[in-house]
Amino acid sequence: MKVTIVGTGNMAGGIGTRVLAGGNDLELASRNPPKARALASELEDIAQKDPSASVTKADVADVSGDIVVLAVPYEAVADVFEECGDKLSGKIIVDITNPVDFASFDRLVTPSDSSAAEEIANMLPPGAILVKAFNTTFAGTLASGEVDGHQLDVLIAGDDDHAKQLVAALVETSGLQPIDAGPLRRSQQLEHLGFLHMTLQETLGAGFGSAVKILW
Ligand SMILES: NC(=O)c1ccc[n+]([C@@H]2O[C@H](COP(=O)([O-])OP(=O)(O)OC[C@H]3O[C@@H](n4cnc5c(N)ncnc54)[C@H](OP(=O)(O)O)[C@@H]3O)[C@@H](O)[C@H]2O)c1
Repeated sequence: MKVTIVGTGNMAGGIGTRVLAGGNDLELASRNPPKARALASELEDIAQKDPSASVTKADVADVSGDIVVLAVPYEAVADVFEECGDKLSGKIIVDITNPVDFASFDRLVTPSDSSAAEEIANMLPPGAILVKAFNTTFAGTLASGEVDGHQLDVLIAGDDDHAKQLVAALVETSGLQPIDAGPLRRSQQLEHLGFLHMTLQETLGAGFGSAVKILW
């Protein structure tokens, strides 16, 4: 499977690590070629351990993966669609955002009866399908894919079952535990959970190294 990650920040590095560990082809699409080059060479070592994995770089306007992960702030998603929207028809778009109001760190910026995922679904380029995933996993924990011996859970929401299954398969081959959280509107709960997990870091002194895990 070819996966494109848009962005070269913390989550691009974390998800990119897992995607390559799962033996997939990874394309890093960035508005900043030197940063994409730097992250690609960082991830090259992981790709070299598996002959079926590869890592390449692209401009944001040239995304070509079957699954496209938007590893950018919520506020930047509209810009990304403007840059590459014509390339996204037929592709599965993965929204990982937590739309936190960082000025107050006390609320989300989305309307109370909506979510970033639902807002993004409303501006989706024609033919693209949206899935919510990875917003409850911290970037640093994705490097190993586990915390304290527990495999990370990746909660997945979406209205297209086939797209959710493909994202779940990607998550599973990447060494993580996929959990179907239901329709796209469950993103409201997922994003509040992601925000709560962030606010708990100071209380726990966890340094963004904790994980949300469902045990049963
Ligand atoms: N960090 C976490 O642990 C975590 C956990 C769960 C979810 N998330 C979510 O994951 C997303 C990424 O977080 P992050 O921590 O990886 O952020 P980050 O390290 O700040 O990286 C953000 C990336 O987005 C790119 N970007 C920003 N504005 C852009 C635009 N207008 N067009 C194209 N690219 C743009 C940046 O590119 P430049 O380098 O060129 O500026 C950078 O590569 C956010 O939505 C966040 O809510 C993060």
